[in-house]
Amino acid sequence: SKDAPDSANNLSFDEIPHRLDFQHHVPEGYSADRVLSWGDPLEAFAGAFVPTKLTAAEQARRFGYNNDFIAYLPLHDEAGPGQGDMHITSDNSEHGLLCVNHEYTQPHLMFSGYTEDSANRGTSAEHVAIEQQACGHTIVEVEKTPDGWRPVQGSAYNRRISLTTEMELVGPAAGDTRLVTNADASGRKVHGTVGNCAGGKTPWGTVLIAEEGFGGAFQGDPDNIADEVEARNHHAFGIAEDNRNWGDYDRRFDITHEPNEPNRFGWMVEFDPYDPESIPRKLTTLGRFEHEGFTLVSKPGQPIVAYGGDDDEHQFVYRFVSKGIYRPGESAHNRDLLTEGTLFAGRFDEGGNGEWLPLTFGEGPLTELNGFRNQADVLIDCRRAAKLLGATPMDRPEDVETNPVNDCTYVMLTKNKKREAGEENAANPRARNTAGHVLEIVPPGIQGGQRDHASNRFSWNTFLLGGNPNAEDPRERGAYGQTSPGAISRHGWFTNPDNVAFDQLGNMWIATDGCESFGFHDGLWAMATEGELRAAPKHFFGCPEGGEICGPEFTPDGKTLFVAVQHPADTDRSTFDEPLHRWPDNDPDLPPRPSVLAIRRDDGGPVGS
Ligand code: FEO
Ligand code: CA
Ligand code: CA
Ligand code: CA
Repeated sequence: SKDAPDSANNLSFDEIPHRLDFQHHVPEGYSADRVLSWGDPLEAFAGAFVPTKLTAAEQARRFGYNNDFIAYLPLHDEAGPGQGDMHITSDNSEHGLLCVNHEYTQPHLMFSGYTEDSANRGTSAEHVAIEQQACGHTIVEVEKTPDGWRPVQGSAYNRRISLTTEMELVGPAAGDTRLVTNADASGRKVHGTVGNCAGGKTPWGTVLIAEEGFGGAFQGDPDNIADEVEARNHHAFGIAEDNRNWGDYDRRFDITHEPNEPNRFGWMVEFDPYDPESIPRKLTTLGRFEHEGFTLVSKPGQPIVAYGGDDDEHQFVYRFVSKGIYRPGESAHNRDLLTEGTLFAGRFDEGGNGEWLPLTFGEGPLTELNGFRNQADVLIDCRRAAKLLGATPMDRPEDVETNPVNDCTYVMLTKNKKREAGEENAANPRARNTAGHVLEIVPPGIQGGQRDHASNRFSWNTFLLGGNPNAEDPRERGAYGQTSPGAISRHGWFTNPDNVAFDQLGNMWIATDGCESFGFHDGLWAMATEGELRAAPKHFFGCPEGGEICGPEFTPDGKTLFVAVQHPADTDRSTFDEPLHRWPDNDPDLPPRPSVLAIRRDDGGPVGS
């Protein structure tokens, strides 16, 4: 992978320091406009946000809680809603749609009167109903104005997707008996999505959003349901009696009433943001687990390849290869590419080789002898299938994304405190991994510098180990690619990689989730992936205390970088009534609010260079 342009190293911004305070930080010469905060109205007639007067109906037309993944999709000025085929020909970097996940709710920071003890327990049906409207996703038209990026209130594109939105299950598991509930005999109609962490975009104008920590939405002791297969399945996703008590108010979330409802969550969801009437689809082809996200490699005339991670300790990295081939411009054909194909789990061997192992019913151990009835079972119990195949248990795989410049794929492994001494493997070399690491997957090369992502073989290497490069304990010591000591400043190191994005030059931008345990804010670090400064990070953005940064997303021209600050002021004892701070409003009438920022260079140039 040595054929990337030399310009990939020109990250010339002035690095910011490690800090921990109640502000966000960007380098000199940059500014960060606030675009959207929890509660901001999406409709023209909705008034200012008064959190103490919030109702579920109000929340359904306002920006949701805990913004995570962000996708920017350009708008074509001559096209309207429902005309995605025209919009996808546009590279408009000043007018588009922002598609933003709302991962989860935190009632103690959303409602007055919650105590730490009651933080996980709903106290009224109305609170639970508000929370169900505050999670999910927002689609909102945005435009760049002389005063910065602004949402277009009342736009026909603006839409909230929540835990009550009608959706369709598609692919090999759809309609299986394990997806049937009292409310849905078809096993194909689901209401809503939850735990929406990261995601991806397709070249046919749709957005993919992940269902990650869905188990927390379900209440009940799995041992109290008769079916042993489902009891084991529900335990694996953390469903327990003392989870959120949504089931007390909405029986769908009580597994003793609806034991199959959790099987309808834990999928990737695809929807068309250009068509506000479209029905989102849960893609069973991409398996069921705690999805961080899935990102695509799309090459004309070849199958679509998609990569994703299961963000839990000792879980796996996955790859999907579509049955059909990608034909640019043929949307009717392309729109079904993710509904048929093969899912694989990754095995990372000693010596830097690896193999993708197919999750196909009837092959190898995936048979009735091991309790799989059909392909639906393989997909619903994906973790169990991948483990039987001998996939490598990883240190919590978060984003897995391909650098469009060097065509290599990068795996963010956030941490794994549960990896005991003796459980290390070549790709996860640290016992009790507190700082996380990043792997580089190099698919075999083919002509023109393009790599064969559909090959079942690959090579891999450790791109970096998170942590302080000067840590006394060698097990905690960070290592940044092949950079010589001193190639990064004392603010260049970071921990707990989570989301990742690439700029036009192929520089990698890593968003973190966990640096506060190491004494400084979460934020963004940018680095080259090639050349002398490969894996030498520079610190670009810092969060207000308690916050995590998600969803870095560039506009096509690279001149705007959108970021999501999730759960600001989320620290022990911080509550709605007595928060640690009130970022970003600093208004005594408003709690801290998760918010999306648009970062730009004051001279209008590309961000980073
Ligand atoms: Fe929701 Fe994997 O971070
Ligand atoms: Ca998160
Ligand atoms: Ca994440
Ligand atoms: Ca995370």
